[in-house]
Amino acid sequence: MRELWLTSPAKINLTLEVLGKRPDGYHELDMLVVTVDLSDRIALSVRPDGHITLASSATHIPLDEKNLAYRAARTLKEASGTPLGAHIAIDKHIPVSAGLGGGSSNAATVLIGLNELWDLGLDHTALAQLGADVGSDVPFFLYGGTARVGGRGERVEPLPDVGPWSVILVRPPVSVSTTDVFRAFDVRTAPPPGATEAAVRSLLAGDRRAVLEYLRNDLEAVTMERYPEVRSLKEKMRRYGATYTLMSGSGPTVFAVFPDARRARRIVHSLRGFLKEVYLVQTLTSGRCSAALRHAGVGEIKG
Ligand code: C5P
Repeated sequence: MRELWLTSPAKINLTLEVLGKRPDGYHELDMLVVTVDLSDRIALSVRPDGHITLASSATHIPLDEKNLAYRAARTLKEASGTPLGAHIAIDKHIPVSAGLGGGSSNAATVLIGLNELWDLGLDHTALAQLGADVGSDVPFFLYGGTARVGGRGERVEPLPDVGPWSVILVRPPVSVSTTDVFRAFDVRTAPPPGATEAAVRSLLAGDRRAVLEYLRNDLEAVTMERYPEVRSLKEKMRRYGATYTLMSGSGPTVFAVFPDARRARRIVHSLRGFLKEVYLVQTLTSGRCSAALRHAGVGEIKG
């Protein structure tokens, strides 16, 4: 039986600006997002009996409809009308409910892989539309690399790569509900938007380093208010010499970007002295992203 092994990377938000609340209850966003090489591994195989089943190395994630990877497979099956099913096995490395998009990344990977295994021939745009129904962050992960993401997450504009930069991720031991954080957010308290636009301009002008001057996350204050340990973690990372540091997504993971890899290695060493979940990763280039999928036999993803 044919089996595909795919990598499913995490992301960080270099910017996350909330522009307003939409009539559908979601928020209009403007974000600069980049994938990093902290990845889950997903094995996919065809089930001729039409069933969709899920297994995971992690004991604390749902294995039913609540899992976005499962929902992605169901959505693709229903949209395509295929009689085939699939078994999805997720080897989990990305922290869960951490602001790193792990579940959404898994969903996007399943869409890409099953489109291939079920021989559906759907193009990228069709997959992104299905992905948006599964979760707001899913369309981005169909592209990976660096992208500006707008709307509620369905508008993805692939951009030249930031980095390659070293990134330290630290996940404090709290789980954050994205829904609760958005609900507590008051758009009147946010400064006028513009950081994403400025960062994208710098990137398009070829000044990658200047992107780091515009790091901003409008949800950070909300999460820090609820979980003071996120604020103290960010302050601590600053004191240890992490200049460019920010919370990712709705949190609680705080990241620090280092154009200088040696400096990142030194600081990660110090942080590991007193913190548990500390990761040293690299930003992914879109080329590397599609190379990983090519390696898995899925073919090039066109951005
Ligand atoms: O789309 P997803 O299920 O990942 O979103 C989780 C929650 O985050 C939503 O229920 C919504 O409350 C909030 N959200 C939002 N605006 C967005 C994305 C997510 O309000 N653009």
